[in-house]
Amino acid sequence: MKSAQDRVHPLWDEFCRDLELASSLEDLSDLRDKYLGRKKGLISRELKKLGGLSSEERSAVGQQLNQLKGQVQDAWSERQDRLKNQEREATLTQERIDVTLPGYPFPVGGIHPLRRVRREMEEISVRMGFTVVTGPEVESDYYNFEALNIPKGHPARDDQDTLYLSDTLLLRTHTSPVQIRTMEKQKPPIRIVVPGRVFRRDAVDATHSPMFHQMEGLVVDEGITLADLKGTLEVFLRELFSSETRVRFRPSFFPFVEPGAEVDISCIFCDGEGCRVCKGSGWIEIMGAGMVHPRVFQMVGYDSERYTGFAWGMGIDRIAILKYQVDDLRLFFENDIRFLGQF
Ligand code: PHE
Repeated sequence: MKSAQDRVHPLWDEFCRDLELASSLEDLSDLRDKYLGRKKGLISRELKKLGGLSSEERSAVGQQLNQLKGQVQDAWSERQDRLKNQEREATLTQERIDVTLPGYPFPVGGIHPLRRVRREMEEISVRMGFTVVTGPEVESDYYNFEALNIPKGHPARDDQDTLYLSDTLLLRTHTSPVQIRTMEKQKPPIRIVVPGRVFRRDAVDATHSPMFHQMEGLVVDEGITLADLKGTLEVFLRELFSSETRVRFRPSFFPFVEPGAEVDISCIFCDGEGCRVCKGSGWIEIMGAGMVHPRVFQMVGYDSERYTGFAWGMGIDRIAILKYQVDDLRLFFENDIRFLGQF
């Protein structure tokens, strides 16, 4: 006859060995099934066997078994707590975040220098009462030349090496065709500026590009004079460069204005002293301008006796070159991020 202790001890010893080996919560759960499972658990099985024992044995063994069950449960829970702590600690170390590490830099985009200058020119114009309008880059011969008093065979056509798309279609060589398009649609008074891309058959070098940007201006009303042209451009250019900027007009020729002028500003680098940029002259040519030619008014059906006006056209790229002291136009178009990132 086995003593009550003989029945229970081996079970406890086995459990202790198993417990020693359990290294995860999963092992531990298997262990619970093995010993404490309701039906197949080793302790439950022993308890079921009690029925076959004498009543004396039954109470002795029963007591031992219940004690064992309590011990197993306690030892099991204690181990479970320990394993849970270990696992939590492991995840905490693994997932530790060092909040003092520097973040990843995100490259910040910027406005292209040409767009920046264009915006500034638009903003100044709007403050002065102008409306910003745009027109098509693919233009007809009529708008680019004919209506601007540059008929076929006129030598002025040769000055603007034109990129033709067909006999009658071309890439506009200046923003002036938008003068015509606007006047065809609108009656005076007119006060517009026209920024945009223009194209000429030029070889690429530090100061030439087959694509560049202009901003046109047009004012038409009754009683507009050359004094208005001078005053308007002076205010505009002093806003754009500096309040010290001096402006000078030199007679020049454009078929769509009469009289016509080239406009210079005092050199922004040497203030008129003479330097490399202004080639010693103290002045920098900045745009073409003039009083709208009566024939242009006639082309759009305006009464050229009643209305007068003035127009100008200037290169945005050229102004950007001056403002940012860039010595090569190509830099604006190559989109090298090391260049663009400086603006
Ligand atoms: N369209 C001329 C050019 O591209 C500039 C200009 C505009 C001159 C308006 C006078 C009046 O050279």
